[in-house]
Order: sequence, then C-alpha cells, then structure tokens
Amino acid sequence: KDITKIRNFSIIAHIDHGKSTLADRLIQRTGGLTEREMTHGQILDNMEIEQERGITIKAQTVRLEWNGYELNLMDTPGHVDFAYEVSRSLAACEGALLVVDAAQGVEAQTLANVYQSIEHDHEIVPVINKIDLPAADPEGVRQEIEEIIGLDASEAVLASAKSGIGIDEVLQAIVDKIPPPKGDRDAPLKAMLVDSWYDPYLGVVILVRVMDGVIRKGAQIKFMAAGTMHLVDRVGCMRPKIEQLQELGPGEIGFITAQIKEVAETRVGDTITDAKRPAAEPLPGFKEVQPVVFCGLFPVDANDFEKLRDSLYKLRLNDASFSFEMESSAALGFGFRCGFLGLLHLEIIQERLTREYDLDLITTAPSVVYKIHLSHSKNEAAKVIELHNPADMPDPNRIEMIEEPWIDATIYVPDEYLGSILKLCQDRRGIQKDLTYVGTGSHARAMLRYELPLNEVVFDFYDRLKSISRGYASFDYHQIGHREGDLVKMSILVNNEPVDALSMIVHRGNAEARGRGMCERLKDLIPRHMFKIPIQAAIGGKVIARETIAALRKDVTAKCYGGDATRKRKLLEKQKEGKKRMREYGSVSIPQDAFIAALRMG
Ligand code: GTP
Repeated sequence: KDITKIRNFSIIAHIDHGKSTLADRLIQRTGGLTEREMTHGQILDNMEIEQERGITIKAQTVRLEWNGYELNLMDTPGHVDFAYEVSRSLAACEGALLVVDAAQGVEAQTLANVYQSIEHDHEIVPVINKIDLPAADPEGVRQEIEEIIGLDASEAVLASAKSGIGIDEVLQAIVDKIPPPKGDRDAPLKAMLVDSWYDPYLGVVILVRVMDGVIRKGAQIKFMAAGTMHLVDRVGCMRPKIEQLQELGPGEIGFITAQIKEVAETRVGDTITDAKRPAAEPLPGFKEVQPVVFCGLFPVDANDFEKLRDSLYKLRLNDASFSFEMESSAALGFGFRCGFLGLLHLEIIQERLTREYDLDLITTAPSVVYKIHLSHSKNEAAKVIELHNPADMPDPNRIEMIEEPWIDATIYVPDEYLGSILKLCQDRRGIQKDLTYVGTGSHARAMLRYELPLNEVVFDFYDRLKSISRGYASFDYHQIGHREGDLVKMSILVNNEPVDALSMIVHRGNAEARGRGMCERLKDLIPRHMFKIPIQAAIGGKVIARETIAALRKDVTAKCYGGDATRKRKLLEKQKEGKKRMREYGSVSIPQDAFIAALRMG
C-alpha cells in the first residue's frame, strides 16, 4: 500500500456546527452508503442517546475512497468531559477539518479544539458550513477565523453540509492540504489504541492507528501499559460497514478484535506492539483517565438493588471511564458510589439506567474529589485521604487542611451578557485571568478566562451560563490541580434527622446562602404532614439556616377533601403517584423529586 495516498483527519467543531452532517455527506459522496441507508439519521452517532442529545460520545472512524486516496475520517467526541479521548483521536491524525457555522462564528469549544489540534501539529483546513442559512456571514466568519485563531482562512471551503454544497471541494482540500502519514513498515509494531467499545457480536473492538510496523491477523500482540498479551483474530476497517482485512500497515487507521471480554481491559492511549518483536519504547502521551465527579445512585425501590448492580456492570462493559462501588446510606439503603468524567457523563449514565434498564433512581449531590490532610494521624501514609463522598468526611477536629480541585475555564460570550457572566463567575469564587474582545460588529464577543473551583461548577454552572446568556455563551475547561480551600461539610436535617443524601461540601463563605436556598427549596418540596417539620442546614452542631413546614390542620384537610371534585381527584392521584417515590425519614416522607429539585441550585 502506498503510504503517500493515505490521509488521516478528524473534524473539529463546536457543538451543532454541523460536524456529523458533514461527515455523513462525505461518506455518501464517496459511496460508502446509498441514499436509502443515509436516511436513517446520522451514521456516526450510533447510540440512541447520542442521537437524541445530538452529541457524539464515542469516537468512531470511517474509511473513504476518493480518487485513489484512502481517507480515514476520525469522529471525535464533542464535549469537554471526554477531552482525553479527543486528544488521542487527534494524535492519530495528521490534519483536521475545522467546521465553523457561518451564522454563529467561532465558539469556545472550537477554540479549545483548534489549539489542541495545533499542538498535535495538524494541518487545519477551515470549512465554513451552513452557508445556505439566511443569517450566514461567511466573510465575517472568515475574518474571525483569521483574527481569533490566527489561521489563514483565505482558502476556507464554503459549504452547506445540509444542501450538499462544497462537498467535493472539502474532499479535494483534504487530499491537497493534509500531509500523508509517516511510518516505517520494517520497524517493530507500534500502534496506538485510540478507542474501544463493546460489540455484542464481535466482543471488544479496538480502534487503532498504526505508527510503525504491521498488525496482522493471527499475530500475538502486547499492550505495553496494561502489560497484557492477546491474539489478533480480526483486522479490518469501517466503510462504515465492516470490512475485514489481512493487515493494517503504517499510517493506517482500522480496528482489531482479540477475544477481549471487557472494555476495562483496554486503555485508550496504550501502545500495541508485537509480542515477539516488541518496540523499545511506547508512544508518548499515555494517561490513565480518572473520574472527577462522584455521586451516589440508589434505587427508589430497595428490591431493585440487584438489578441496578447488573445494569452498572453491563454499562461498564462499554465504558471503562466510569467507576462504581457499593455504598450504604442510613436514609437510602443500599446503592452505589459512582465516579464520572464530568457532569454530562453522569447525566448520560443516569439516563441510560433509567431508560434502557428501566430503573427508578435517586441521585445524591454530585461531589468532586477533595484531598483531606489529617492532623493527628499516627500513620504517615494515611495523612492525606481522598474524599469522594461528603458522608465520609472525617471529624473536623482531625482535619488540618482541605484541598479542592480547580479548573481553568474559557468562556466566550456576546458583550451584552458579559456583566451577568462576570457576576456568576465571581459568585462562584472565580479568579479572573483574562478578558479580551474578539471579532467585530455582530460577531464581537468577549473571551473570558477564569480559574474556578470545580465544586462550584459541578452543580449547575453550565445551565446557569446558558440561561443567563440565552444560549449564546460557550464554555470549555481543563483541570489545573488542587488548592487549599476553606471548606466545610453542610448537613441538612429534616425533622431533626440528618439526610445524608443531601449533605454536601461547601465553601464556608457560601455555606449560609447555600443552606438557606436548600431549606427554602425543601420547604416547598416536602408535602405537609400532620405535624410541624423543621428543616435545618447545619455545619457541625451549628444551625446556619432554618425553615419550618407548618402542620396540616384538621379543618384544612376537611375543607380540601370536602371541596370541589376535580381538586380532590387531583390530590388523590398525586398522592398515589407520590407513594412509590417517597422515602421515609423517620416519620417524614420526602418525594424523590424533592431530592433532585433540591440539588438543582440556582
Ligand atoms: P455535535 O454532534 O453535537 O457536535 O453536533 P454536530 O456538530 O455534529 O452538528 P450536526 O451535524 O448534528 O448539526 C447540527 C444541526 O445543524 C442539525 O440540525 C443539522 O441539520 C444542521 N446543519 C448541519 N449542517 C447544516 C448546513 O449546512 N445548513 C443548515 N441550514 N443546517 C445545517
């Protein structure tokens, strides 16, 4: 195979700028699929949730044939939670199409991805998409790409993925502008594990990019970081339908299977080499991904515990980046403490459990990983502990210092919303690092850089940002390590009993406001009982906020039930529905919705 005829590229774009639509068009144009097959929605987004949310979660790749060239298109996940997967996909390519919406212009995520792409020495081909829209301003966007990103956009391809305009030009630009891969066929095998997923028929499928050497069917391979050996039983590529091959040579992207049972046995970024003639050094850039956001998942119905466990095992077959271990809570019974790459990742798993596995769940307040320095520990090694669960917080007297994770965030927002966004960041303990203006006229936008504590972001920061800016702000972040913080555990007591699922770690300065907000919200969410119910927020033994739910009076009930028929029926229905979702706290019933709503700050 002629290596100079290979082109490996990915598509980088802000969410909704048309990445998947363009990918589909390229597949269609190069004959990968017929028109009829195309009509079943977007091909690269193959999971139900991906389709509904319109985002790409798992990287997929497809091989296209164009004028004698082999074009490997790598689809990358479009969300900050999956940054490491993105970085490995980019490392497998020599270039990228930068898709920018002709009406929206450059957004924060575009920027973050472009910088990553530049770090990987990519040749970047700008594509201005959606030129069919009435609001399209290709000239303005072209200038923006030059001004903000510093790329030469004079030859940017103008396209409409939706109407099929400019597709041949995109393909030609890939061939002309993106350099072919380099690699030595005779060197020992070095291939990067780009991604892996579980297929019910094939088992674990591994997406690889061969750097040097050749990977063959029947070969014994070794995963250098994992230290395991496997026998390759299939080699192939996706067009996007699976095609089996005898081998993959240097520069090629394709898949292998090797009788692997679980995705957890494979690690994205690992180097695959030949067991008999191994490479001396692994490829650079391997990193073990670690969950950053934790929460408890409990079945509403205690009888569903086994079902929840089985479902988590099944999900993990396909997603090694989330973790779970058993947890028991005084209030919620048996459940699992789960770790995720970010909030979106958490929501995806939660949604799949609900939808695909039909489970009713209670999710506790999400928490980040704190480092707790203990003061009087006899054992030196146990002096610093990692805390994933507010319920496990040691006695404050034993704590010398607490560290929390921080992030570096880039926010991109039209000027008119800047004031409110600055206030939001300030309220969340942000430290402003930079504020610049980019673009002109209707494209003028402020680019903000803030350092923020991750625990202020995991609750609802993204939702708030979107609602304040009416959807126009974009947000991107990466972690920058732990820093000392004045943090305390805030407990919520309902009828004088602590509800562990609602306890959270907060900054002392924000504790009172948080506590008050939580009590007020719970007051509205917990139905009245026959007796008075105090709701309190407390730090240690000290109550910092308090609300009281008044008791139902006899005459009120009488009036209610004696009242008009529809109201009465509604009430009964509500009660019935509420029954199965209630949790008893001592003598108080808390509806499941109350948990979820109470945790939604704002
Ligand atoms: P993520 O997968 O979420 O990153 O989004 P994406 O970048 O893949 O965007 P997608 O291809 O899903 O397109 C987003 C929306 O824009 C869809 O509703 C498309 O139909 C629409 N769209 C894509 N390309 C064009 C275009 O050229 N013109 C117009 N008018 N709409 C387009």
